Amino acid sequence: MKKSPISSFVRQQLKLVEDQLLNTTLLWPSSISSIISELLKAGGKRLRPVLVILSSMVGDYDSVEVMPGCLAVEFIHLASLIHDDVLDKASFRRGKPSVSFVHGHRLAVAIGDYLFGQAFYLVAAKNDGRLFPPLSQACLSLSRGELLQRDSVGSLEQTEAEYLEKIYCKTAALFKSACQIGALLGKVDGSAYGTLASYGENLGMAFQIYDDILDFIGNDEDLGKPLGADISNGTITLPVIYATQDRSCRRQLRKILNGKLPLDKAAIEKATTLIKSTNAIERAKQRAKYYAEKAMLSAEQLSKHKARKDLISIGNFVINRCN
Ligand code: FPP
Ligand code: MG
Repeated sequence: MKKSPISSFVRQQLKLVEDQLLNTTLLWPSSISSIISELLKAGGKRLRPVLVILSSMVGDYDSVEVMPGCLAVEFIHLASLIHDDVLDKASFRRGKPSVSFVHGHRLAVAIGDYLFGQAFYLVAAKNDGRLFPPLSQACLSLSRGELLQRDSVGSLEQTEAEYLEKIYCKTAALFKSACQIGALLGKVDGSAYGTLASYGENLGMAFQIYDDILDFIGNDEDLGKPLGADISNGTITLPVIYATQDRSCRRQLRKILNGKLPLDKAAIEKATTLIKSTNAIERAKQRAKYYAEKAMLSAEQLSKHKARKDLISIGNFVINRCN
């Protein structure tokens, strides 16, 4: 098992968040409560609450103050995954059958909506209007990212810039928002607020690019879903964009993607072998590393040693996911 990138203090704080996530579900209608507590128990790195905690530690950390922020970002994340599995017709999430697969699309949509409402309700109780812009921007971005992804299914015409916008919306915006919310709850002032926002955004970009690479080179067990799921659904990621810069590879990939989606096992294997025969994976890794290093440079500017150390260590952890 890889060593945890966060200090024992933050792990303790995260344990409080974990308990509170589960306790909160106990207050919900029983049909929802049991499903979400199962989903929470299925794992997840809780990176977004960790970012809330660490960003808050750059100012005045108070575990009670940050709790609603930690819960809100995790509930929004879960809502987006549950809705995403409905839209993608995905059977697996975190190594377990997805909520929509087990309980049907209608209940999955209703549960996602409930989580989403709960997140905003928790934040509203803080009575601090400054928390809403980051949170609502992240939600708008998540929805925009999903729409951009749907619009571009199977299209090899996508540019790198379009891909980067898509992953900003899908992933980086909520990472950034988690840092902003943590900073606000910790009363972080001056330039450190912007530095943390920039850290979150760049970390999110790196995280998603590595995630997209792992879809080709990871293993089903770590991913919690089948390898090659993105290409199978026609989701065009950075390795594919780089691979198609080779004309022959582009021609062959176009042929494969012109077939019926989702691709079958043989087509996924063929596409994966083609992509791996180019330098696309290596180039995508370099791009991801660029964002992770940018995030770590931001972290280095922060004055509080304890938070800075963990933020840098998370940057290295994200890089090492692919090594
Ligand atoms: C996973 O992408 C999907 C997301 C990170 C965002 C999905 C967003 C929505 C469904 C909009 C709804 C938003 C809210 C706030 C309720 P993926 O399909 O590429 O990754 P995967 O392999 O993990 O499924
Ligand atoms: Mg999906």
